[in-house]
Amino acid sequence: MKLVFATNNPNKLKEIQHILGDQVELLGLTDIGCTEEIPETAPTLEGNALQKAMYVYEKFGFDCFADDTGLEIEALDGEPGVYSARYAGGAKDAEANMTKVLEKLQNEENRKACFKTAIAIVIGGKKTLMNGEVQGTILAEKRGAEGFGYDPIFQPEGYELSFAEMDLSEKNKISHRARAVQKLVAFLNR
Ligand code: IMP
Repeated sequence: MKLVFATNNPNKLKEIQHILGDQVELLGLTDIGCTEEIPETAPTLEGNALQKAMYVYEKFGFDCFADDTGLEIEALDGEPGVYSARYAGGAKDAEANMTKVLEKLQNEENRKACFKTAIAIVIGGKKTLMNGEVQGTILAEKRGAEGFGYDPIFQPEGYELSFAEMDLSEKNKISHRARAVQKLVAFLNR
């Protein structure tokens, strides 16, 4: 079957194609000629994932899945959440985003946080949602150089290392995205 993953990120595409194997021919947005920016205006991760998958299904006529990820910090009432990519302003600046989080959490004892990934899949018009999450804490300062985004300030529960101090293969075993993708694979193989 042909299935669109609503992403422009070739690494994400490759990673999931590898997991899915031959049974699915995974296409990216550029493969179907979708060059416009797909709106992501919903107030929730699930809403944004669904909005992206439905956009492709309705405008391009392909079965499609889309993901959306955010970091939810308990003491900040779930911020940055859906605004994770641009928390510190218009540009997607990971350093500025982390600095903003650390400043907001100065003198805050509750450091609990959670990464969440929502995946929405639309097949023949039928919508299904799944998600993955990993609990952890926000460190007092940035640690490590691997990964991306908020990885240097996030320490997953049960580990002494930040995501950015972990091997990518280790992070990929326990991450929010990995857990959501496992559910997607189970759904496609059902
Ligand atoms: P996206 O929905 O995958 O584009 O993720 C939105 C934003 O969440 C990114 O721009 C990053 O700031 C953050 N983010 C997503 N996944 C991760 C991760 O695995 N580690 C750290 N930050 C992440």
